[in-house]
Amino acid sequence: MTINIERRRLILGGTLGLGALMLPGGRGLAAELLGARGFTHNVASGEPGTDSMLLWTRYVPGNGVDEVRLDAEVAVDAGFTQVISGGSVRTGPYRDWTAKLTVDGLRPGTAYWYRFIAPDGSRSPVGRTRTLPDGPVARFGLGVFSCSNLPMGWFNAYAHAAARDDLDLWLHVGDYLYEYGIASYKPHDRIVGREVLPAHDHEMISLADYRLRFACYRADPDLQKLHQRAPMIALWDDHEIANDSWEGGAQNHQPAEGDWSIRRAAAMQAYREWMPVSEEPWKHYPIGSLATLYRTESRVLARTRPVAAELAEAYQAADPDMALRHFRDGAWQDSTATMLGSEQESWLAHELRRNATDSIWQLVGMGTIVGRTLMPEQLPGWVRPEAGDRVAEKFRRDVRASRQGVPMWMDRWDGYPAARSRLLRAAQQADADLVMLAGDSHNAWAYSLAEDGRPAGVEFAGHSVTSHGMEGQLAADAGDVARAFVATNPELAWADTSRRGYMMIDITPQRVTGEWVFMRTVKERSLELAGTHRLSVERGRRRFGT
Ligand SMILES: [Fe+2]
Repeated sequence: MTINIERRRLILGGTLGLGALMLPGGRGLAAELLGARGFTHNVASGEPGTDSMLLWTRYVPGNGVDEVRLDAEVAVDAGFTQVISGGSVRTGPYRDWTAKLTVDGLRPGTAYWYRFIAPDGSRSPVGRTRTLPDGPVARFGLGVFSCSNLPMGWFNAYAHAAARDDLDLWLHVGDYLYEYGIASYKPHDRIVGREVLPAHDHEMISLADYRLRFACYRADPDLQKLHQRAPMIALWDDHEIANDSWEGGAQNHQPAEGDWSIRRAAAMQAYREWMPVSEEPWKHYPIGSLATLYRTESRVLARTRPVAAELAEAYQAADPDMALRHFRDGAWQDSTATMLGSEQESWLAHELRRNATDSIWQLVGMGTIVGRTLMPEQLPGWVRPEAGDRVAEKFRRDVRASRQGVPMWMDRWDGYPAARSRLLRAAQQADADLVMLAGDSHNAWAYSLAEDGRPAGVEFAGHSVTSHGMEGQLAADAGDVARAFVATNPELAWADTSRRGYMMIDITPQRVTGEWVFMRTVKERSLELAGTHRLSVERGRRRFGT
């Protein structure tokens, strides 16, 4: 039985009324998620190759069975008249009944249909997938997502993307789910029928918590449709583990919550169980001679401690401006600070050099933004009164830091300037047409990246699927906000800080065009758009515009 929230909403809404969805502790949902049997969460595919694909499903047998064998079939048609590949895999409670199987013997650039078969003969829903192309490629379409916070809204962006026929692959750059307890959401931030488990103020800490949260999110009908439609390359950012995480801890991890390394291991285990991903921490995927796509890890394997505490100290100094300059020239520049770790930095530099000679575009999927962002002078004056004093004070501090050349967000590449320089210089030395694809910020941005006064590539930074952006904090017109950011930041070519959605990246030998797709709302289920915005980078230009 495939669970989905839409059906649950109908059942519970019909028999018990909407109030049933709001039961303390989400008991109705818990009973359904924990009691489900059979193929509970549809199918998914990922880690695409030219001749292989990783297939995913979850199957829970009846009571008393402690392990199960599933068979997979891959066919060239939706009716399965011609099965050309497949295999078998075991699963059990030790991996939360999730199953992953890599199938081989496929042809490049070809659509396939797949399904799993249980020992009792029952079949999973049928998924569609597509292998990566080989040789010259005229066009490749990539849908890019980030920051899907389930209680904050409907996954309309997923549904809209899943209905397209011009996309070959999904890339999820993180914050696929959020660790927060439901009580940490303000009442007006929550949508009726979008409850999550574990419920109340219980954030994800143990392996059981992370698994249950995945079971909850993956019951979403639009997310299921997305996975069922095309393969996904996925990387985690911080919220799959805990907010603003690094190798040794996180902003949202307190000593009372236990040992960080145990929590981190639990989060990583659940992620790898529930997502159609391999165990490799980072990886590259050739898209014929058109492009190479990189999956990176910049959060919890090697990221060094952020400098947020040192920056906060500067504001406490007798002369904060002098302290900020001291910070700018000292702690902030530390060359041992790293997002990727030396092993991955070295791998990426080598691969960029190697692949830039064989493929035109180097597309790097990244959890956080590389583009440099200073806080515009006008923003503190535009803060909504209801956003609270803390927000206004934060904005005033950011302006003060920006006047000294210190950017806004220490949790991003802006907090790791020496590592940022190494990354961009590696792209320049490889003579690469670099295209960064990032998320995390909830808002939409386009950067022309530069290093040592020379163009280093472009960055398409995506807005969130549902997570709130700056619009909740600012009373100003979104156009004014965007103009202020662009005027303050030489790398920034364009911004929108007001709408939700996803990015569609259209790759051809001549240019890469990013389209930010804006959904009209996330407060109800709808495919209606509020608009789109497109920007292109021409081959060899390594920056937006002329
Ligand atoms: Fe994030």
